[in-house]
Amino acid sequence: MNKNVMMSAMPRVKLRMTHAQKTEEIDAPKKSNLLKLLQSKGISVGSACGGMGICASCKVTVIRGASHLSPPNEIEEDLAERNNLQRNERISCQTEVLGDIEITTGYW
Ligand code: FES
Repeated sequence: MNKNVMMSAMPRVKLRMTHAQKTEEIDAPKKSNLLKLLQSKGISVGSACGGMGICASCKVTVIRGASHLSPPNEIEEDLAERNNLQRNERISCQTEVLGDIEITTGYW
């Protein structure tokens, strides 16, 4: 193993808030549920069904780092199909953070 390789630090989630014309960054313990993480930091995210994987209101748009999110599970794949989600949109309540990402929503 290369001793010069740094162990990866805690993943960072960068939030692009277009309406507020700012970005925020938050630490994400690895495998954090994205919706719960955002809510725990006081970030407003739609969640009409409370994270049950029914409403799709918790969708976020991934700007960078899509491969640093868990792959869509069956629930998310079904929601994505029924709600015509774009390839860069993820259902945050069904998604785990594995590395650095940058996301936004249409209402931030
Ligand atoms: S909060 Fe309803 S699908 Fe995520």
